[in-house]
Amino acid sequence: MKNTVATFKQSKLKGEKLSMLTAYDYSMARLMDSSEINGILVGDSLGMVCLGYKDTLSVTMEDMIHHTKAVSRGVKNALVVGDMPFMSYQTSTYDAVKNAGRLIQEGTAEAVKLEGGASVEEQIKAIVKAQIPVMGHIGLTPQSINIFGGFKVQGKDSSSARQIIDDAKKLEEAGAFSIVLECVPAELASRITESVSIPTIGIGAGPGCDGQILVYQDMLGMFSDLKPKFVKNYANVGEIMINAFKNYIEEVKQGVFPQTVHSFSMSEGELNKLY
Ligand code: KIV
Repeated sequence: MKNTVATFKQSKLKGEKLSMLTAYDYSMARLMDSSEINGILVGDSLGMVCLGYKDTLSVTMEDMIHHTKAVSRGVKNALVVGDMPFMSYQTSTYDAVKNAGRLIQEGTAEAVKLEGGASVEEQIKAIVKAQIPVMGHIGLTPQSINIFGGFKVQGKDSSSARQIIDDAKKLEEAGAFSIVLECVPAELASRITESVSIPTIGIGAGPGCDGQILVYQDMLGMFSDLKPKFVKNYANVGEIMINAFKNYIEEVKQGVFPQTVHSFSMSEGELNKLY
């Protein structure tokens, strides 16, 4: 069944949990889509897990469009959300609408995500007015690490927690169809989930959210630069890949690969004409 922003909203009403993962290319998107994931986020985490940057701040609109297009081509049923990179919406509502539009038109995303609460309310309203669904993102917003002083859990004291609750309500009022809650205490995430009518999607925000999202390289053990506490390792694909690479290298060295079954041949008659 095709997942849309409408089905996301209905899931909350029905109490059905939503699952999302990130993806950045066609083949991974196809695999995820066939597993019946509800949504795929082409996250700006791309900068770290695919491009090797130390944070997400260097990711550009061109990067996001390029990868969103690739993911969209591999997806039939999941909702494809394109992430708006740093400085693509903070500068003005005009830039926000223009760049959200590019992710839809050029990247063929079905919705966009951007970080921030009350500070980006006007941008969200304008993007929604342009008929583009918006997923909000509050708590630990990685584009703000220079303000936060690193990748730190947010909302641990009552005043910052209250601020995050207010931000969630602002996002709902602005027309967001869902909200990512990243690295906030589980109690706070549950409180937010109860106080808004749109689904909350948690990452490091405990079990009380309406859905969950993980970066696929984290849950498959394919990325070791950072190991957040909230990640569960569902498979050691990184280890499986390294073993496969080593096996391949050894077989090439030993002349075991390729064999006849992996090779093409020509008829003896044609071969004889060569001499
Ligand atoms: O960029 C990303 O992958 C994200 C998720 C962690 C929510 O924003």
